[in-house]
Amino acid sequence: MSRLDSAIRRLQAQRRLLDQAASDIQSLEGVVLELGLGNGRTYDHLRHILPNHDIYVFEREVQAHPDCVPEDDHLFLGDVIDGLHRAQKTLRARAVLVHADLGTGDSQASRDFAKNHLSPAIIPLLAEGAQILSDQPLSLPGATKVPLPEGMDADRYHVYRVDGPLEAHKRFHKAA
Ligand SMILES: C[S@@+](CC[C@H](N)C(=O)[O-])C[C@H]1O[C@@H](n2cnc3c(N)ncnc32)[C@H](O)[C@@H]1O
Repeated sequence: MSRLDSAIRRLQAQRRLLDQAASDIQSLEGVVLELGLGNGRTYDHLRHILPNHDIYVFEREVQAHPDCVPEDDHLFLGDVIDGLHRAQKTLRARAVLVHADLGTGDSQASRDFAKNHLSPAIIPLLAEGAQILSDQPLSLPGATKVPLPEGMDADRYHVYRVDGPLEAHKRFHKAA
């Protein structure tokens, strides 16, 4: 497969999964978290498909298209893990959709980061019924792994759903 084919497939998969997740969670009250703004493509799409939800963006350095830059009060600027820790205090467990697209060219480092650092930082923010879409596999014990649509490469994206309180979630909120 050419790199162009691969890029097109990745974008189609992103759009299809975001559309499905948005339709699943649209009746839930809560906020959306976009982890990794990049040039703002998926952020802009989320704004279109979930116009009634506040979207909070986490990004180290904003380099997005000028039309796709969130307002300051919806932007956690800096390292995503620091931002998620700060968000735990203000947003609490109100995230009904989390989209993580942080991967770099180093696939092993991206996987390790997602499993060991990103996953535990996301858990305290998740609301019941939340869906989590990630370009890297996450470790969310107790969440349901949602199968990808038929024909989609199993390693391309990872989708999880919170059907009930997660163990780590209960421990975090008890301690807080
Ligand atoms: C692949 S791009 C996101 C693309 C975006 N989904 C889009 O459609 O335009 C990844 C983004 O994540 C950001 N990022 C990667 N690691 C990060 C970290 N540890 N903390 C904050 N931002 C990070 C990068 O700066 C980059 O802008």
